[in-house]
Amino acid sequence: MDLANAISKHLDAELVPVDLRVFADGESKIKVRRVEKDHCVIVQSTYPPTDRHLLQALMLIKGCSEDSAKVYAVMPYMAYSRQDRAFLKGEVVSMDLVAKLIEAVGTKRLITVDIHSPASLSYFTINAQNISAVSLLARYAKLKFKSNVPIVVSPDEGGIQRAVEFANELGTDMIALTKRRNKDTGEVIIEEKELNCNMVDKNLVLLDDTISTGASIIEACRFLRRYKPNKICAMCTHAVLIGNTERRVKAAGIEEIISTNSIPGNNAKIDLAGLISGQIKNIIESKNLS
Ligand code: R5P
Repeated sequence: MDLANAISKHLDAELVPVDLRVFADGESKIKVRRVEKDHCVIVQSTYPPTDRHLLQALMLIKGCSEDSAKVYAVMPYMAYSRQDRAFLKGEVVSMDLVAKLIEAVGTKRLITVDIHSPASLSYFTINAQNISAVSLLARYAKLKFKSNVPIVVSPDEGGIQRAVEFANELGTDMIALTKRRNKDTGEVIIEEKELNCNMVDKNLVLLDDTISTGASIIEACRFLRRYKPNKICAMCTHAVLIGNTERRVKAAGIEEIISTNSIPGNNAKIDLAGLISGQIKNIIESKNLS
């Protein structure tokens, strides 16, 4: 069941079908039935084709905000969050633009899940809220690994907080690698350093917010192999998995990728519907639309 459908079931809300056409030149056309309700929830992650999904989400929000008083946009995977500042001179801060577009079409509130940079939300003037799926991921790992509790590895220092929370829920150890990315080429390098942790024959979980090209976890896996672990799995909130990434990740020795259903696909084993619906219920019940 897709995420929008699952959320509608949790909320006991009507699921409104959308008539979507993409013309030969790539233009999208959207037709949506009039929604005469107080609240309307649009669910659309902006995964590839990113710009098309973003524009379709904007079209839908615009269509529904013309009828419905309060449109909540649920964008579990929020693209452009990595462009939340100009890293190199001349770079456009795309997240600022995306925030302005989302507001311009009539969004009253925004919900994202494990957004890459929470600082991105500062570009919104509406209430934009990020929720964490770390507990859901940890609960899944607990059931999967049972007594064979894995060591948690963050491929970069930016992910330490996430890895600490996950490891605490599992009652296990965590390690953070040091990753550098060439800002021009995007090449990923895991810095050489000695890890003071016995990983021999242990299971490892590489934990990240997003797996996109796979470069981060593939390089992390190469680095970790020298510590002779047993199995290495990858868990993430958003499995973007561009092109043949999944095949390359497996070829690098990562046994399994486990993600949430923020993006549909074979690896989407963890359902976000309960988490997101709970948040929507809180918003509606508190009637706090500031
Ligand atoms: C970046 O710092 C993020 O936390 C992820 O590590 C990154 O988005 C993964 O991208 P890729 O799979 O392309 O290395």
